[in-house]
Amino acid sequence: MSTKNLTTVSVIKADVGSLAGHHIVHPKQLEMARQKLEHSRKDGLLVDFHVTHCGDDLELIMTHRMGENNVKIHELAWTTFKEVTEKVSKPLKLYAAGQDLLSEAFSGNVRGMGPGAAELEFQERASDPVVILLADKTSPGAWNLPLYKIFADPFNTAGLVIDPSLHRGFIFEVLDTHEGLSVRLKCPEELYDILALIGDPNRYVISKIFRNDGLPAAAASTSRLSMIAGRYVGKDDPVCIVRAQSGLPAVGEVLEPFSLSHLVPGWMRGSHHGPLMPVSVSEAQNKGTRFDGPPRVVALGFQISNATLVGPSDLFDDPAFEPARTKASEIAYYMRSHGPFMPHRLGPDEMEYTTLTGVLDKLKDRFQKAE
Ligand code: 13P
Ligand code: 13P
Ligand code: MG
Ligand code: MG
Repeated sequence: MSTKNLTTVSVIKADVGSLAGHHIVHPKQLEMARQKLEHSRKDGLLVDFHVTHCGDDLELIMTHRMGENNVKIHELAWTTFKEVTEKVSKPLKLYAAGQDLLSEAFSGNVRGMGPGAAELEFQERASDPVVILLADKTSPGAWNLPLYKIFADPFNTAGLVIDPSLHRGFIFEVLDTHEGLSVRLKCPEELYDILALIGDPNRYVISKIFRNDGLPAAAASTSRLSMIAGRYVGKDDPVCIVRAQSGLPAVGEVLEPFSLSHLVPGWMRGSHHGPLMPVSVSEAQNKGTRFDGPPRVVALGFQISNATLVGPSDLFDDPAFEPARTKASEIAYYMRSHGPFMPHRLGPDEMEYTTLTGVLDKLKDRFQKAE
């Protein structure tokens, strides 16, 4: 447990089954998760929480004083997902009930067991705005491009140029998901090295960002479901926590990269590249139905006040992001027109964990030596 009265924001998520295929959680799943967390709030484990969803992913946003990777917090998330699976998803025969719960028994930390977790422990500033990013139909590498733009690109983040408190730059922690190694690189000094790694989001994913003086600025969920399971179990739809303002990028600078609708892996059967569409949390936008997508991202803004969550504000619920949604739809049409061809279909590395291997196995013995 933390002794310095620090605040921890833990965002832990899992797909535990959904309504009509893979597109949306059922209201009863949200209700049950809320009841469970309310219990823990009353018991004093949590200070506050907000339960929501992005598409078919159930999202637990929790604040507490227990620090990162706390067994009790992770166990609470795990048992919540288990109970929602057993008491709601299975009786209603929701699709892929318990999809992201890859293990029977809890082993101390949800990482490596299927659910995704982003956690940030920090000393609260006089005012602490936080943006929680939640995505569906994609994988943790999807945050690389926006996080780079937010914390390293002066064309995106005006504060990097005009606010002296941002001039000393940021430290990027990058995880090599293949080797299980991580490296910390300084920006702007090592900007080209950072890009050399994170430009390959299939392998290298940003896990944390600190300001140059050590202040924790951002955390992303980084585990790779496909790597854990060794077979197709859906995309590990990621979450991310970004602190904003007063010596950090402004909230508008955090949201700005999502006006691009950049290409990410995921979408139908976790096997296709498509645009990441910024959407509001509302029923109208927050469910991927076109080819099970396209991939989408929700942004919720909170003020953290003595570890309580003030908010949220549904940040992409703004007509200014309508052109980004229209552009994402246009890109979706263009990408879809490639059908089963790469680069719409993912490359062989990423298809390794899908059902395609079964098709290739079936053909294996029919190959003959070519002339
Ligand atoms: P702060 O330094 O208060 O974060 O100001 C930035 C700003 O207002 C941009 O919107
Ligand atoms: P999810 O990873 O969101 O469950 O989607 C899986 C899928 O197969 C979509 O077509
Ligand atoms: Mg699903
Ligand atoms: Mg999902």
